[in-house]
Amino acid sequence: MSTAPLSAVASPAPPAIPRHVAIIMDGNGRWAKARHLPRFAGHKAGVDAVRHVTRAARALGIEALTLYAFSSENWRRPEEEVNDLMGLLRLFIRRDLDELARENVRLRVIGDYRRFAPDLVELVDAAIARTAANTGPILAIALNYGAQAELAAAARRLAARLAPEDITEAAIEAELETRDLPPLDLMIRTSGEHRLSNFLLWQAAYAELLFVDTLWPDFDGEALADAVAAFGRRQRRYGGL
Ligand code: IPE
Ligand code: IPE
Ligand code: MG
Repeated sequence: MSTAPLSAVASPAPPAIPRHVAIIMDGNGRWAKARHLPRFAGHKAGVDAVRHVTRAARALGIEALTLYAFSSENWRRPEEEVNDLMGLLRLFIRRDLDELARENVRLRVIGDYRRFAPDLVELVDAAIARTAANTGPILAIALNYGAQAELAAAARRLAARLAPEDITEAAIEAELETRDLPPLDLMIRTSGEHRLSNFLLWQAAYAELLFVDTLWPDFDGEALADAVAAFGRRQRRYGGL
């Protein structure tokens, strides 16, 4: 009896896991409305979804997860809702930071969060500092983030420092708030909307886009695993063949 050569029995290549996933967490308000609840209840359920999805991302081996929590345009919402969102951010940090720190997660923030209330800025800074020496996956939260503002700020810094011919794609890339994150592989938006709403516009150049109808509070670990599986079936060509 002959044994088959090793190559003939080798298992198929493991499915591709995106290194960096970004999520536009949309649909909290509609989730609440469907239940005849105040919008706040949707945002609160949305925080629970953040917990489940960040755990699932770690289990799947995703290196970086960037979550759109508050856009630079969300200031247009009623003051009460903005305050509710800030309150939930405080709650999230107070309740979830221990687990993130213990799980070796590096917490980051992108966006101009220094425009938030001083106590919240302090809380965010302390949370970032507490996990800064960790070596595991990155959880980046986008707070008062807008991609156009990010790019304009990068352009201003480069113009002050470099001659026009030195303002290259690599130079711009190195000024972005995501500079030390892996390249963006997968961008997910929940709630059936098909737009990027000023999120990671530069970084999304060759990301795979996935739009799902699920409302954010209903998006869970299984939904993330499904998204990763869908990513694994995509063929990325980057302009080639
Ligand atoms: C996303 O849910 C949460 C934030 C933008 C902070 P929405 O609040 O936008 O929910 P919908 O779109 O009104 O359903
Ligand atoms: C995008 O959702 C911002 C966040 C998820 C934080 P929005 O609900 O604010 O987006 P638009 O207004 O529908 O484009
Ligand atoms: Mg929305």
